[in-house]
Amino acid sequence: MGDLLRLRGPLACIVGARPNYMKMAPLVRAFAARSDLPGVVLIHTGQHYDVAMNERLFADLALPTPDLNLQVGSGSHALQTAEIMLRFEPVMDQYAPSCVIVVGDVNSTLACSLVASKRGTPIVHVEAGLRSFDRSMPEEINRVLTDQIADVLYTTERAAADNLAREGIAPSRVRFVGNVMIDSLLNHVGHAIPPLDTLLRAGFGAQFLADPAGFGVVTLHRPSNVDRADALRESLVVLRDVSARLPLVWPIHPRTQRNIERFGLSSLLTGARIALLAPQGYLETLGLLSNARVALTDSGGIQEETTALAVPCLTMRENTERPVTVEQGTNTLVGRDRDRVLSCLDEILESGGKRGRVPELWDGRAAERIAADLSRWLAERQRDAELVQA
Ligand code: UD1
Repeated sequence: MGDLLRLRGPLACIVGARPNYMKMAPLVRAFAARSDLPGVVLIHTGQHYDVAMNERLFADLALPTPDLNLQVGSGSHALQTAEIMLRFEPVMDQYAPSCVIVVGDVNSTLACSLVASKRGTPIVHVEAGLRSFDRSMPEEINRVLTDQIADVLYTTERAAADNLAREGIAPSRVRFVGNVMIDSLLNHVGHAIPPLDTLLRAGFGAQFLADPAGFGVVTLHRPSNVDRADALRESLVVLRDVSARLPLVWPIHPRTQRNIERFGLSSLLTGARIALLAPQGYLETLGLLSNARVALTDSGGIQEETTALAVPCLTMRENTERPVTVEQGTNTLVGRDRDRVLSCLDEILESGGKRGRVPELWDGRAAERIAADLSRWLAERQRDAELVQA
């Protein structure tokens, strides 16, 4: 009977860090809309904790307050991952979930998956199969390992299935459903906050956005770009030189802010046309992105959001785990190569740059498809368990 009861347990939905929230919000809504699915418990690991990185996004996305916050906070990868595991294990006893639903590739994704796997609770991974093939990225390790132990893998682009097959994952576990992050984008872009409001609220004058060329948006936080002084210096030089041609708005991640100060690099930005802002809410970010001439980023999500918005994106990395944004979308990989960035920028300013098209199934209905499939899958498991009991 224990197994049968567990199959009726809630869906344990895990969030930990900022990029998880826009993926989980449409899922929680789609799960709640189906009476044939168990209820949801929303568990926040506390990997991100600042109001700017958290509460504001929860409010913008209409995400319910988590049922539980494990409050792990920051630390080394080992410490953070281990601490999440220790704190999540008793939660599994408390809720006896029918499955654990994880999104993306942050430390919280892997840590909760490991706990669930060792307790025999099924894992559902949303945004599975993305690969940068760069194992120096902490996210790549989180992706590969989570996918190995996940029972159901929902993918955002077709190439993901090939990556998973190559790693020996049975195709029967993999479903191509589209992109839940784009569900959130399409849901909220109509309510995006105009860039001028965001700039004025941050204390900048209207003249900052008065350049006829428009403005660019920057986000930068990957360890490979910001954790070493030489790499961060190169990144800042690129941004400074771009800003001579196009004013830039940069909501700065706390990791990057801290490292600019720690490495004594602030002077590189003196006099540059760069509006440094605190981390912004979701609606402010959508307002900035959808009105930008170009985005310069090393984020995964922004490569996808700019493709969906048809805004050119220059990705300051040597690789991407999201090849569809390059092959079909508006994304170009530029690394920290100053000349390459400036020549791509010139092309964007002259001719608009890559226009691209919206990839297959990025249509705002991925979460609905996942909810329907999950309902079928759980019902099948229930039937199988009843047959075994009979
Ligand atoms: C994490 C994810 C990354 C994701 C990013 C989005 C991993 C391995 N990395 O990286 O994939 O793209 O989130 O932001 O999971 N900090 C604060 N306030 C907060 C959270 C963090 O000030 O609310 C500072 C702390 O100094 C912390 C640093 O930012 O040490 C880094 O935070 P952490 O969660 O370790 O990694 P991110 O760089 O945010």
